[in-house]
Amino acid sequence: MLKIVVCVSGGGTNLQAILDAIENKKITDAEIIRVISNNKAAYGLERAKNAGIDAKCISPKDFSDRNEFNQAFLEAVEEMHPDLIVLAGFLVAIPKEMIEKYPNRIMNIHPSLIPSFCGVGYYGIKVHEGALKRGVKVTGATVHFVDEGTDTGPIILQKPVLVLDGDTAETLQRRVMEQAEWTILPEAIDLFARGRIQVIDNTISLLQ
Ligand code: GRF
Repeated sequence: MLKIVVCVSGGGTNLQAILDAIENKKITDAEIIRVISNNKAAYGLERAKNAGIDAKCISPKDFSDRNEFNQAFLEAVEEMHPDLIVLAGFLVAIPKEMIEKYPNRIMNIHPSLIPSFCGVGYYGIKVHEGALKRGVKVTGATVHFVDEGTDTGPIILQKPVLVLDGDTAETLQRRVMEQAEWTILPEAIDLFARGRIQVIDNTISLLQ
């Protein structure tokens, strides 16, 4: 049974997609053992409670400095002994120590086709504002492993989404979530659960 800790900062729709995929067996033999948020108002915490899952808020505001927060965050993850950590709309920088402890075991969903519209400053609605400003006709979402950089880890899955005439950042964000994020994040977790993700020299091949 794959033990997963999911980290959220907002609505938790990607968390919900994972919960639903576990429920309908689209993700093999896995369970979410804790949901952590940096934001006590995150609806993702409600979703966890509604599903009977341990929900914990670790807010940087409750600590005197970033190191103290990082330690508390790391402990909240480590004490569950997860096999996989999933960042599902999580807007906090992951402590270096955690990345070193969980190499290729921290997954992130980013709402663009990396390497476009990613990196520092590109998060949430800003990603879609950038895509519209540049005038791209296709955008999408990416699931990747987390490394020391920002959105720079090895790419696991991507899914394209058309940009439509008249799109606003909001309509585009919603379509990318519905048509891409909520599909490829559960898919990537299932591939991981089945041991089908192989990372060689920072590049991923999916084993049959
Ligand atoms: C999503 O667009 C996700 O790609 C981004 O944060 C947004 C909110 O996601 N990282 P959720 O509804 O909290 O899962």
